[in-house]
Amino acid sequence: MILRVVVTIFGTVFMATGLIAIIIYIVERIKYKNLLKEKVHNQSKELAIVTGASSGLGRDYAKLISKNKKYHVDELIIIARREDRLEKLKNILTVPTIVYPMDMTDEEEMEDFKAYLENKIKTENFEIKYLINAAGSGIKGKSLELGSAREIKTLKINSEAQVRMTHIVANLMSAGGNIIQVASVAAFNPMEDLNMYAASKAFIYTYARGLRGELLKRGINITTVCPYFITDTEFIDKAKMNRKKLFMPLKSKHVVKKSMSDMSRGFALSTPGFVATMDRIFGGLVPDEVLLYLMRLFV
Ligand SMILES: NC(=O)c1ccc[n+]([C@@H]2O[C@H](COP(=O)([O-])OP(=O)(O)OC[C@H]3O[C@@H](n4cnc5c(N)ncnc54)[C@H](OP(=O)(O)O)[C@@H]3O)[C@@H](O)[C@H]2O)c1
Repeated sequence: MILRVVVTIFGTVFMATGLIAIIIYIVERIKYKNLLKEKVHNQSKELAIVTGASSGLGRDYAKLISKNKKYHVDELIIIARREDRLEKLKNILTVPTIVYPMDMTDEEEMEDFKAYLENKIKTENFEIKYLINAAGSGIKGKSLELGSAREIKTLKINSEAQVRMTHIVANLMSAGGNIIQVASVAAFNPMEDLNMYAASKAFIYTYARGLRGELLKRGINITTVCPYFITDTEFIDKAKMNRKKLFMPLKSKHVVKKSMSDMSRGFALSTPGFVATMDRIFGGLVPDEVLLYLMRLFV
């Protein structure tokens, strides 16, 4: 009898909470969709900015924006440190492209970029349609063996530089603008031997998702992208990871296509691929000990 009462009370509370959550979700999504419709139609030319464009995801984002009419822009700015790689990319893009080589962890270089972009928007009648924040890096190893300097370098490019770039660009964006923030499936849980990488991605994941709520009120969308590991970019080798251990790894073009499509539908989160989607759904329910064990096997 007591058990039946407890089960009934628990079941009712569980269902009521679930129902309220679903209603809030639907209302918020409708509200967000309406906010995103507030695009200002004027005669400005459209601009896209892609960071991390010298290889991997960034390069493929630039290629997709250039070739797919759905994502049409009048000009692209491509950013990374390796100028020669950016020049090579520029030569195969069909959209007028500006190569802007810089180290995004260098404050002065970022200030120069801010001044450059402000001037461009003011004098050339541009509106920023996309910011693709794809620059990033990570390295496998034990935190204490890597040392704080190496870890902080990862933190700077994956977190601090992303925040700086987002501020520079979002301040110049108007309604209808879109930001893609590349995080990672590593943002969902702690990871041994990729500790700072996971922590830096958790930071930018939370930051971008919170900022989305603020920017939506100005008609600007942020889609945070959390892919599982991708084998055809430079990341895995630079991070000194063992690609043979990875379970169902992804291809860069798939991640780019899926996340751009999720962005155009105004989604807050994009988890391309099976592993990332499972992690998104179940990551919060599984104890860290189990997740750390699985990561040891597959990462
Ligand atoms: N590959 C994966 O398995 C995977 C999975 C989930 C998430 N991600 C994330 O996806 C993003 C792109 O990675 P990817 O796989 O495309 O790797 P990638 O091929 O190594 O590309 C990283 C890009 O970031 C640029 N970059 C790194 N440090 C920079 C700095 N200080 N200033 C300016 N640009 C810098 C690199 O260019 P330069 O070296 O020329 O500066 C390069 O263009 C990263 O944020 C990564 O964490 C990757």
